[in-house]
Amino acid sequence: MSSSLEKWLHPKQQLISEQSSFKEIIWNTVQYCDCMDAERGLPYLRRLVSTKQIPPFDLVLTDPPFNLNYEGYTDKMDYHTHKLVKHLYQDNLSEEKYLNWINSWFHELQQISIRQIIFIGRQNIKYWTDKLKDIGVWIKRDSQGMGSTFWFVKHEFFITAGKWSNKVRLPMSIYECNLYSNKLSELKHTCPRPLQLYIDILRDSKAKSVLDPFLGSGTTAAASKVLGINWYGYEKELKYKSDIDYRINRAKPELKLKQKVL
Ligand SMILES: C[S@@+](CC[C@H](N)C(=O)[O-])C[C@H]1O[C@@H](n2cnc3c(N)ncnc32)[C@H](O)[C@@H]1O
Repeated sequence: MSSSLEKWLHPKQQLISEQSSFKEIIWNTVQYCDCMDAERGLPYLRRLVSTKQIPPFDLVLTDPPFNLNYEGYTDKMDYHTHKLVKHLYQDNLSEEKYLNWINSWFHELQQISIRQIIFIGRQNIKYWTDKLKDIGVWIKRDSQGMGSTFWFVKHEFFITAGKWSNKVRLPMSIYECNLYSNKLSELKHTCPRPLQLYIDILRDSKAKSVLDPFLGSGTTAAASKVLGINWYGYEKELKYKSDIDYRINRAKPELKLKQKVL
């Protein structure tokens, strides 16, 4: 059995000293709550890191809501029942509230992780100029490029922030990967990322541990499992648990050898 697989099968790594009154955190698990929850969320992780009960996470890889100025129902076919299911999608804060919200979780992430990679939404670059180290692009070869702020854009931007250096850097800032696949359409989530994209980015980052406060359908978790990297994440909507479980179960360490995965 490879060492990365062993690591995956024995994930109950305790990160806490015996004297501490904090609860443990367990690698490779999802917390279904607001990532800013004081008891379980990023503020809790900050307390653990600042008291040296856990080391900082090597990397944050995440994709928060972009504040697309949209509130409404999206129809998505349920793969199992073949029925259209309506999902309420609310992503319409005022500019000021959105900026305050970004600042609050980014501030926490800076204290509990060494490096960050964050998809930002092209209209949001103005909020990130004072925080970013560099910008990267995901080119979706198969996207028709409809709309400028919605999901169908042909390119998406991510920023890198934190402590990158010549030794620890992403060798590429442009990633090409198709948007669509049959497997992704089986998910409930409206904007799952392709697994291959996250595998490529994570592999290039050489991260040893990764945190995603906005897991969605669980792409970061699945890609981390493929690469044998310990991960930890948050998702506030319990309805995405089945997507996350499905993607983690399908993610096998040997997938990284293949060119195309779900
Ligand atoms: C753009 S999606 C992430 C998609 C994900 N990258 C994927 O590949 O499936 C953002 C996710 O963050 C979740 N979310 C929004 N606000 C949150 C919060 N405060 N805490 C935790 N999760 C949150 C949403 O429910 C949504 O699933």
